Amino acid sequence: MTLYEDMTKAQTREELAALRETHGRHKAKGLALNMTRGVPSREQLELSRGLLSCLGEDDHTAENGTDCRNYGLLDGIPEMKRIFADILDVAPDEVIVGGNSSLTLMFDNVSSNMSHGVRDGEPWSLQGKVKFICPVPGYDRHFTICDYFRIEMLPVDMTPEGPDMDTVERLVSSDPLIKGMWCVPVFSNPTGNVYSDAVVRRIAAMRPAADDFRLYWDNAYAIHRLRGSERRIPNIIRECAEAGNEHMPLVFASFSKVTFSGAAVTCMASSRSNCEYIKRRLTAQTIGPDKLRQLMHARFFRDADGVREHMKKHAAVLRPKFELVDSMLASRLGGLGIASWSSPEGGYFVSVDVLPGCARRVVALCKDAGVALTPAGATYPRGEDKRDANIRLAPTFPPLDELRLAMEVFCDSVRLAAAETLLGETEGAL
Ligand SMILES: Cc1ncc(COP(=O)(O)O)c(C=O)c1O
Repeated sequence: MTLYEDMTKAQTREELAALRETHGRHKAKGLALNMTRGVPSREQLELSRGLLSCLGEDDHTAENGTDCRNYGLLDGIPEMKRIFADILDVAPDEVIVGGNSSLTLMFDNVSSNMSHGVRDGEPWSLQGKVKFICPVPGYDRHFTICDYFRIEMLPVDMTPEGPDMDTVERLVSSDPLIKGMWCVPVFSNPTGNVYSDAVVRRIAAMRPAADDFRLYWDNAYAIHRLRGSERRIPNIIRECAEAGNEHMPLVFASFSKVTFSGAAVTCMASSRSNCEYIKRRLTAQTIGPDKLRQLMHARFFRDADGVREHMKKHAAVLRPKFELVDSMLASRLGGLGIASWSSPEGGYFVSVDVLPGCARRVVALCKDAGVALTPAGATYPRGEDKRDANIRLAPTFPPLDELRLAMEVFCDSVRLAAAETLLGETEGAL
């Protein structure tokens, strides 16, 4: 492989002409492939088929005697709280079980703090222009929540160890209107990075200028390991408590990518007294959650070890897909100097950085050839990737043969866009 930057102009022109022909051939196939979102595949959904039949007609009573068909038990049935507590290494009374979307829990918490303040403090929205720290590239839906509440987003670069903590500490300690920070500490979306122990401890020990600052610790991929040995990071709730920030962290976890995204259970964990405040709000919101779904999950898994075993089956389905993506990126783009990418040990995404100025073009080329990708820029607040370089690949949903076709189109598009850029022909005709 020759580095693109070492090619002569004539060689690059030849390469571009060949890639345009290839692009035409891809188009002629009439593909309609979708790699836009990290959705579990059908095969993964089948792994939890038993969930639908694990409650018999007479099986509706939780271990504390609660009839799950009826109202009540705002914070969840004990057996489900125990499973989440074990997974997150916290106590059951530090857990509130949620509905099928952890994003709803995050949204609601931000909403509550905007309108009612943190722990009965002054509402965020009355204090001025609220700001959040947003590690980038990051999860687009976190940014959508900020957008919705008109929260200003402050992008901070991700490093392989986690967010750039020098910048985070400087910002957080100097501005009382910085009220929150998004974190996906394990198998981050989209980079797959796992925060180092040192970064977790620095986050826990931050000294925010706002005494109502909250850490949104979205542990969506806590147990979604594809390969390698188990990745445990320091317990953020304990670390924060030790550092004098007991009420700062709000931890979220989700079974959306464990069982059924449309019928999962989720949870939020925090200090006991935060949980009491949150329960007060829940009392105004509902007379009781869907406990039958919780009971189904508790019966299906029995305990946290049951969940961990189940995750091995997911890994067996997903590993070949991630390996395929990695090997195709390496064989088709390696050594060209036009792209770098993550090789995550877990999670749902691969993050690809192409030549600056090329990401939108690559996504457009793929679309033109029938391959839908996450929009370029989606991994940045307001969709603004100033370098126009990052693309998130979501390999979980398509079957392997489709994924292979989609990756062929993607890799060729990265090359085509790079050749155009090097020749100064960014919007070249197809
Ligand atoms: C980091 C992260 N958090 C949360 C979610 C969504 O979770 P839920 O389905 O529980 O709302 C996703 C889904 O892709 C995610 O990547």
